[in-house]
Amino acid sequence: MEPRCPYAHTLDTLGSDLHAEAAHLRTHGPAVRVGLPGGVSAWSVTRADVARQLLTGNRLAKNARRHWPDWIEGRVGPDWPLASWVAVESMFTSDGADHHRLRMLTAPAFSPRRVEALRPRVRAIVDTLVGALRAAAPGETVDLHSRLSYPLPTTLICDLFGVPEEQRPEVRRVVDGVLETDASPEQARAVLDDLFAAMARLAATKRESPGDDMTSELIATRAADGDRLSEKELVSTLILMIGAGSETAVNLIDHTVALLLSHPGQLALIRSGGATWRDAIEESLRLEPPVMHLPMYFAAEDVDLGEGVLIRAGEPVLFAFGAAGRDPGLHPDRPEDFDLTRADKTHLAFGHGRHYCLGAALGVMEAEEALGALFGAFPGIELAVPEDRLRPQESFIVNALRDLPVRLEPAAGERAAVAAG
Ligand code: HEM
Repeated sequence: MEPRCPYAHTLDTLGSDLHAEAAHLRTHGPAVRVGLPGGVSAWSVTRADVARQLLTGNRLAKNARRHWPDWIEGRVGPDWPLASWVAVESMFTSDGADHHRLRMLTAPAFSPRRVEALRPRVRAIVDTLVGALRAAAPGETVDLHSRLSYPLPTTLICDLFGVPEEQRPEVRRVVDGVLETDASPEQARAVLDDLFAAMARLAATKRESPGDDMTSELIATRAADGDRLSEKELVSTLILMIGAGSETAVNLIDHTVALLLSHPGQLALIRSGGATWRDAIEESLRLEPPVMHLPMYFAAEDVDLGEGVLIRAGEPVLFAFGAAGRDPGLHPDRPEDFDLTRADKTHLAFGHGRHYCLGAALGVMEAEEALGALFGAFPGIELAVPEDRLRPQESFIVNALRDLPVRLEPAAGERAAVAAG
């Protein structure tokens, strides 16, 4: 009998306990059959060594239009809950020369040098947001997610792509919708249509009145050389860049703040100069990565992973990028501990190989600025709920918090008590 997979698991669309689910999958093989919403079956890869091996070389592809028979033959279509991850035509869903062409249109703008040049802009947004937090009364509970972690990356990416103020609420709504993994067919179809409509509207606005922004640059490229960028690719690139630039960095800031507040000894280490914000960010990326199961790759040929697992050409594969950092195969020493002094903080939070995250340097820099300003302004900041009561967002794609309740300063009475004694 040919090797297949002896085990199948339905991914929890509510993302109730992403880490437990990934740890469970890891014990069942180098790749495990998982059920996705809408009756679609895929493979989940949770082991770091297998992920690295598969993401190097050409055995997997990204373009559903060429490599996923269920999509090509219409058995899975635009009303599938995860359709917005495959129906776009951007670098994220392309291979080979197409991938290179589309990535090179935006890659130069996200080089480490260009990202460093954006630091003052990021600092200005952070200063405004942190400044507004100072109005909170001592002891008052403040939601840091909606007041800092969410507005920082979403404002920055909207600024970079020149999204007009009046279009921002709709742009934010549609990119948030992509992360919902338990949408009905009607909701899924609406998310996809609304995504394309919002970005087409942005493109139309910039065609009419171009500005000093990346949407206008992409439009100019298309006007000068339509072969380099089709209309669908233009709109898809806006969906990708604005979506990827928003959601992920939000989670990075939320989780790093939550980890530091729930591990005061580690925070003290930074305050005393024994570790850096960058150490905290890397350890947070390892332990609480912003992305868990990311849709989606497709086997370009039959892939025999051993241990009785054969992935057939055309079958979808999801990488649990967020599982790699806790893989005991990668971190045999206390993989679940948050430890800034850990010498090796390796993770796959930004992916691996050709599709490695284009915005990694930007995301890290945003988090660095947010952490430095927040902890600098509020030395007494503390979580307002126990760590295990923080509420996850309902998704198996992102490892996100719905809110982050903190007290920026202890209540007046508590302060007096501390001062007295
Ligand atoms: C800060 C936290 C972030 C995390 C954890 C993250 C995670 C990831 C991951 C795991 C991938 C790999 C996708 C794959 O192999 O399928 C990826 C790709 C990508 N990311 Fe990020 N990302 C972050 C921030 C950003 C930001 C701020 C931007 C944009 C400004 C961005 C833009 C992209 C793009 C364009 C790709 C696709 C690259 C390609 O397909 O060649 N990301 N990201």
